[in-house]
Amino acid sequence: MPLLAVTYVKGRPGATTTALGLAAVAPEWARPVVVECDPAGGDLMRRHRLAAAPSVVDLAAAARGAASSGDVFAAASQPVTVREEAAVPVVVAPAGGAQTRAALPELTGSGRTMLTTSDRVVLVDCGRLEPGSPVWPLLRLADVVLVLARANADEVAHLREYLGDLVDAGRARLAVLLGAGGVYSTADVADVLATHIGQELAFDPQAVSVLGPLPHDRQAAGVLGGELVAGRRWRRLPLMVAYARLWTDLASYLPAVAPQPTDVATETTP
Ligand SMILES: Nc1ncnc2c1ncn2[C@@H]1O[C@H](COP(=O)(O)OP(=O)(O)OP(=O)(O)O)[C@@H](O)[C@H]1O
Ligand SMILES: [Mg+2]
Repeated sequence: MPLLAVTYVKGRPGATTTALGLAAVAPEWARPVVVECDPAGGDLMRRHRLAAAPSVVDLAAAARGAASSGDVFAAASQPVTVREEAAVPVVVAPAGGAQTRAALPELTGSGRTMLTTSDRVVLVDCGRLEPGSPVWPLLRLADVVLVLARANADEVAHLREYLGDLVDAGRARLAVLLGAGGVYSTADVADVLATHIGQELAFDPQAVSVLGPLPHDRQAAGVLGGELVAGRRWRRLPLMVAYARLWTDLASYLPAVAPQPTDVATETTP
């Protein structure tokens, strides 16, 4: 089953919100689990008033030598309840990053089998990408790397600097997801990135897809941030609808678990 890594290079474009939001509206076949691997430390424990343990530290310990994911994720996760019908299993990272930075090499070393043979979609929040970050091995294991960026000059310029390494990182399908609040169109950003990849880096310009933009939606972001209680019609909030639609794009990059059309239809109908 696929490993879907969510990361970003500048600003706070909504990576953690997106990892949790995608999981909250995931189609049934995905059976998602969110794993916080932000080397700067996690946010979900505090935002959703979860316990300090189990955490990614326990996941790394349990993953050591595990032949397959089995119940490892179930034992290491805690539920974030958006509403009673949507509880997302989350493996939290301790605040402060030291423990996560120590756990990451274990997860991507002896624990890699568990990450990549999971019978569920593992959504990993990799936080902000930096040179030498311990999340690079995780990105190399991922089937899809989703890089959040707002469509503005700063964030696109910083993203460009990382594109070569991201494309080089391996087998992953690379998708840039435009966050809320940009000024350029998706087509403009796709053009700039494709030119850079094709002409300056001499890679296949098709190596990167540009998706989005996500809508600015304080209410949905507040629900996913643990500040607001979800109403009965929470799935109809613009950001939730956008995340549900995104699964259709992502499913085409995840052939091993490509859903039956009925699965997508069930989940994306508001
Ligand atoms: N689509 C959106 N519309 C409105 N607000 C959003 C949206 N996405 C995220 N936010 C808000 O932006 C802030 C940052 O979001 P988030 O924590 O997901 O960012 P991040 O990229 O993970 O950065 P960091 O890890 O540094 O916090 C949060 O307050 C969140 O509620
Ligand atoms: Mg974050």
